[in-house]
Amino acid sequence: MDRNLALELVRVTEAAALACGRWVGKGDKIAADAAATEAMRRMLDSMEISGTVVIGEGEMDEAPMLYIGEKLGRGNGQEVDIAVDPLEGTNICSKGLNGSIATIALAPGGGFLHAPDMYMEKIAVGPAARDTIDINASPTINLQRVADAKNCYVEDLTVVILDRPRHDKIVDEIRKAGARIHLITDGDVAPAIATAVEGSGVDMLLGIGGAPEGVLAAAALKCMGGDMQGRLVFMNNEERDRAKGMGITDFEKIYQCDEMASGDVVFAATGVTNGDLLRGTRYSSGGAETHSIVMRSKTRTIRFIETRHSFDFKPQY
Ligand code: FBP
Repeated sequence: MDRNLALELVRVTEAAALACGRWVGKGDKIAADAAATEAMRRMLDSMEISGTVVIGEGEMDEAPMLYIGEKLGRGNGQEVDIAVDPLEGTNICSKGLNGSIATIALAPGGGFLHAPDMYMEKIAVGPAARDTIDINASPTINLQRVADAKNCYVEDLTVVILDRPRHDKIVDEIRKAGARIHLITDGDVAPAIATAVEGSGVDMLLGIGGAPEGVLAAAALKCMGGDMQGRLVFMNNEERDRAKGMGITDFEKIYQCDEMASGDVVFAATGVTNGDLLRGTRYSSGGAETHSIVMRSKTRTIRFIETRHSFDFKPQY
């Protein structure tokens, strides 16, 4: 993967964040998502890549752009698979709450699990706890293993988990085990990444969220040396059929991080609203500031980028 692509990717997520940043708190998640999607698509189409969307806004007949299978880029560059979530946390953005991001990852062809738009059970940790987690083990056991790896007490750990009734049992168990919990309303990609950022205050992400979001989180953790496991959660036979159509035959399979994102992966994200990982977009006279992370699995270089955008010299569309 051309290393310059990584920096190009930040321009893509910055454009998406600036576009939906205008919709923060306005109560219209559809408009916010559409603005991010359009900006991201425009930027991707100007890149010197032959890209195919494998994780996107939906199937071809349900998404007008960035749909699965869509070809992007000028068509004369490297062949890459593209995983996108132009606005991860649409509700958060529309309510002006913490934790929404614009995000994208690229991998050589076949590098991403073609995850259907359904649920995935996830466990994610940073590099310090790599190889200690087991999605089949109880939260109590996983917490103790992570605490041992981090040389701290279970009571020192913070677990991020989506605030959903389906998680009531594991929330109870985590509380009994003694760990701290940060319940989030939406947006489990950023906290999964935060587990791998020293000083973020997040040690583990646990629970059931979107499968496409799981692949994006795995792409990021692969670049950071973190660890993740995921297992698809099927709600009905229609979802099983859809998964079969995307090449999935083993419905019980536990996907390791490397099976969700493999090869030379590049990842970028820009904050839309403030979060544990990134600051949100901020507007001021004549421009705006964005805060992004960009990284490559090949070199494990992790860059945090603060950008000042001057709209007088580079208008926003
Ligand atoms: P959006 O599609 O609105 O961005 O929602 C994102 C998200 O909160 C993910 O971060 C999470 O994995 C998933 O939705 C959770 O799904 P649900 O809201 O159905 O529990």
